[in-house]
Amino acid sequence: MTSQRMIEFVHVRREYRRADGAHVTAVDDVSLIVPEGEFVCLIGPSGCGKSTLLQLLAGLDAPTSGSIVLKAKEIEGPGPERGMVFQRDSVFPWMRVIDNVEYGLKCRGVRAPERRRIARDYLARVGLTHVEGAWPRELSGGMLKRVAIAAVFANGGEVLLLDEPFGALDYVTRRQLHDVLLALWDTPGATRRTVLFVTHDVDEALTLADRIVVMHSGRIADDIPIAAMRPRNDDTLATPEIIAIKHKLLAHLGLQTKGAHA
Ligand SMILES: Nc1ncnc2c1ncn2[C@@H]1O[C@H](COP(=O)(O)OP(=O)(O)O)[C@@H](O)[C@H]1O
Ligand SMILES: [Mg+2]
Repeated sequence: MTSQRMIEFVHVRREYRRADGAHVTAVDDVSLIVPEGEFVCLIGPSGCGKSTLLQLLAGLDAPTSGSIVLKAKEIEGPGPERGMVFQRDSVFPWMRVIDNVEYGLKCRGVRAPERRRIARDYLARVGLTHVEGAWPRELSGGMLKRVAIAAVFANGGEVLLLDEPFGALDYVTRRQLHDVLLALWDTPGATRRTVLFVTHDVDEALTLADRIVVMHSGRIADDIPIAAMRPRNDDTLATPEIIAIKHKLLAHLGLQTKGAHA
């Protein structure tokens, strides 16, 4: 286990000027250090700045002030060491499944036989070998997410930015995808990717995260380590410690939990 710092937000601020002239501070003086290999879930009410923070880290947007440092180098734009998956539109509809998974490798100049081998390996690991030649339109929503996850891992990015990737899926599919994602993240012998995963689902955050960062009005309102052992299941998530954290998170989201003992 290494604790080398992978990402550092230093007093990051992002202001927008809306069409009506109003100023919005989407991210307000965020400072945060994420060590290599950590799985961080970002949670907070709608509009609190989660997606903005991810876009800034992706290099798709720039801070109004402050800086974001990735492996000791300030971010100036997008790069292949950062992969993204969004809630929608994370696969190219005009490419077959296997070509979607290979795309990033192709962009990086990896030769055809090698990238096919890597893509097939990741497709197998997300359980999609049987549809490698299919078109995205032929797949279910859950299968499309498997393709997107296979692609982002196959591309080899050390940092994965996932913005509510499972938000539109049904409960059962979402839970299956948690297992798929964690199996790839926690492959024995492989270096763990550093993950920033945005969600508004408390149970999802508790299932996945090493650490849950709570945002509120553009600021970090809480930063909670989750020490529960892995793999986690409904029992490991039912300990008094985790239930206490769950109540705290729900309160952060404005949901008062009546009858909480914790
Ligand atoms: N491009 C933009 N122009 C103007 N306002 C924006 C823009 N992007 C985000 N905002 C505003 O910034 C705030 C944070 O948005 P966002 O990061 O999308 O929140 P979240 O992902 O937590 O729901 C919101 O008030 C939103 O309306
Ligand atoms: Mg968002």
